[in-house]
Amino acid sequence: MKILGIESSCDETGASIVEDGVQIVSNVLASSIAIQRKWGGVVPEQAAREQIKSIVPVISESIENLNDIDAIAVTVGPGLIGSLLVGVETAKTLAYAWNKPIIPVNHLVGHIYGCWLKENTKEDFNVPEFPALGLLVSGGHTELVIMGSHGKFKLISTTRDDAAGEAFDKTARLLGLSYPGGPSISKAASLVTKKDSCITLPRPLLDNSSLDFSFSGLKTAVLYEVKKQKILSGDFISQMAFEIQESITEVLVKKTFIAAEKFKPKSLLLCGGVAANKRLRERFEEKMNDYPKIQFYCPPIQYCTDNAVLVASAAYFNYSPIAWQEINANPSLEIH
Ligand code: KG4
Ligand code: ZN
Repeated sequence: MKILGIESSCDETGASIVEDGVQIVSNVLASSIAIQRKWGGVVPEQAAREQIKSIVPVISESIENLNDIDAIAVTVGPGLIGSLLVGVETAKTLAYAWNKPIIPVNHLVGHIYGCWLKENTKEDFNVPEFPALGLLVSGGHTELVIMGSHGKFKLISTTRDDAAGEAFDKTARLLGLSYPGGPSISKAASLVTKKDSCITLPRPLLDNSSLDFSFSGLKTAVLYEVKKQKILSGDFISQMAFEIQESITEVLVKKTFIAAEKFKPKSLLLCGGVAANKRLRERFEEKMNDYPKIQFYCPPIQYCTDNAVLVASAAYFNYSPIAWQEINANPSLEIH
């Protein structure tokens, strides 16, 4: 079965056809990140306007033959309402005009299905087994979930304040680095090694027995360090970036493996935009050596951040079309 996925929850406009949930047939992505960068973050109205410009060309480019598509899937939330509406209304119109079934997709669930993509791997790729423990780390979410089977999620913990991606974005901004902060911090951090770094930042909630996360204190700690400087030297920026990345990744890894000890999953899934972080992936892979019974999955780097492949894949494994009239954007949709 070939599903056309449509993604427009934030500043990326994506359309993709995926076969049987794992095989990518086409994948087109337009991004307004370069425009958002000028403002140091996403301006919702601007992101929505860019979605309107891109949605039809992106969808057209993703489709070679309309007869190939069995169904349409669209992200209905969470996200920015203006951006979401563009994808949702376009998908509904196409479902009606082309007489195709339509499936609403939760963006967070989409991120998790990045771990099912065939490109994921070597030849002998086996899909994740259940129960799976997922760490979902994006610009707006930091959540640990247990996945009992397809579409069955139990939220175990979340962030009490900022999300991990938000922490990267906000601290990057304090250092004068460009949006999105994750890749900028990662690049600046790569210029130093541990022995060069003489700054120590807090590891929020690291020794707390709760599985919850909290990253706003890290942002405040960075702000204090920045205020102490007369000018932000290149060395200072790199050392701070290194320490920010160490702090965030250490907390994410520690909490996830406490959850792994507790829930004893068969698979561990790392997903969401922050999963593109090489240091985070490396730390997870290192730690997996202590857990030979758990299989580790993480989407290829280009499928960690927002794209429509994730939407089409999630819709295949949770195939439940509804009438197009009943599909609505929901900016605060949660995982459950
Ligand atoms: O999943 P995503 O594309 O959008 C949301 O659903 O939020 O995630 C975007 C977030 C941003 O906060 C961005 O800074 C972060 O993912 N990100 C990274 C990296 N690439 C993107 N964070 C750390 N390292 C990266 N390489
Ligand atoms: Zn996302």
